[in-house]
Amino acid sequence: MINTTSYTSESLIIKGGCKLKGKVRISGSKNASLPIIMSTLLTNKPCHIEDVPDLLDVKNSVELLRLLGAEVIQSSTSLAVDASKVNSFIAPDHLVRRMRASVLAMGPLLARFKKAVVAMPGGCSIGIRAIDQHLKVFEKAGAHIKVQHGYIHLELKDIKPVEYTFEVVTVTGTENALMFLSMCEKRSILRNIAIEPEVMDLIEVLRKMGANIQVEGRTAIIRGSSELGGFTHRVIPDRIEAGTFLVAGFMTKGDIELENVRVDHLGSVIEKLKEAGACIEVCGTDRIRVYSKGNSIRPLSISTLEYPGFPTDMQAQFMSMCCLADGWSDITENIFENRFQHVAELKRMGADIHVKGRTAFVRGVEKLTGAEVFSTDLRASASLVLAGLVAEGETIVRDIYHLDRGYERLDEKLRNLGAVVERQTSYE
Ligand code: EPZ
Repeated sequence: MINTTSYTSESLIIKGGCKLKGKVRISGSKNASLPIIMSTLLTNKPCHIEDVPDLLDVKNSVELLRLLGAEVIQSSTSLAVDASKVNSFIAPDHLVRRMRASVLAMGPLLARFKKAVVAMPGGCSIGIRAIDQHLKVFEKAGAHIKVQHGYIHLELKDIKPVEYTFEVVTVTGTENALMFLSMCEKRSILRNIAIEPEVMDLIEVLRKMGANIQVEGRTAIIRGSSELGGFTHRVIPDRIEAGTFLVAGFMTKGDIELENVRVDHLGSVIEKLKEAGACIEVCGTDRIRVYSKGNSIRPLSISTLEYPGFPTDMQAQFMSMCCLADGWSDITENIFENRFQHVAELKRMGADIHVKGRTAFVRGVEKLTGAEVFSTDLRASASLVLAGLVAEGETIVRDIYHLDRGYERLDEKLRNLGAVVERQTSYE
């Protein structure tokens, strides 16, 4: 019997050398949308989420909600969720493997149903991505936890108030804990929390639902409610998409204006771009112009840190830019242990990079040349697209499934700015 299943994979074909010009609207934040979508499980009242990006990860989150029994009405940019009829607390393997952010269902399901069964999130290419900190909070609240047949089984009687200091700053660990404790009426204290804008956006939503959450530095004091209400919320703009376009505008020696951005979320990215020689004009609080005076790219020393430090999600994109800088750059990845997979692919395009431990040393070269390169993770694929925009000749970026997880219609937005980018579907 011949296997007739056909596999499709999508690629971007990029012709390098175009200067990006024009305006681009930044979409709603992926990493704010995902926890906010899961927070709807905390209530049986209607929830409306606006400016949700049309991404694979959002589609997977909606599929999970529906699988659990929620009713979700999706328009092009918004979601209406009614989780009153949720009748399952099991997040299945095939979905969690597809999107590790499904672990964000754990806190809400455990809080609402006092039970949750969530498939162990597989590792992922950028690192082990443990969830021990997530589980420690649930344990402290009285949950019994066991891992069986690849699933994490959590159960508790009532949510005990928690006082916990995270051993590592964890974005989704903080988000899971905040959602979970929003249904505990007694006062809980979380210390050493993540304070990324996406975490703060979730806190805004939890407050609208009726949780009292005070944040001072990296400490959150939570007084929840057993009856949380619904909400209407517009998701913050995606600061990583914005950062990616800022790098693209400068790298291609173009002149572009970004609309729908939160300038205050981009501090460390804007600083580093200016250090590299980019001209940045902030127009009000929600628009930024980036252009190049044709000057060369100055080399950088970058060290990724938790917010408000330089974001790990911008590391790969800046590395692409540093490949063409006037001199040596060093880029240290402090958050994930294996987030240099784009290095091998950039070297196929002529980049001169060598990695020593957690630091990549990048010697700027005259030019990059187009090549067939493979995406390995979301931001790595973005860095390869950026390199393709400036490389001599044609670049084929394969497996752009990764890209579509986190960037809404990136090829279309780039074409509207003058880039020569085509999406190609191949059937194997
Ligand atoms: C979130 O991942 C983001 N994803 C990531 O964005 C982002 O890179 C990351 O935060 C860091 O900013 C979403 O928000 C959906 P962490 P998360 O828990 O929460 C260790 C992208 O490109 N750790 O903050 O999974 C962990 O191993 C994605 O959009 C533990 O040891 O990251 C890592 O080394 C990629 N134990 C570090 O902490 C835990 O229990 C930071 O991880 C949890 C985390």
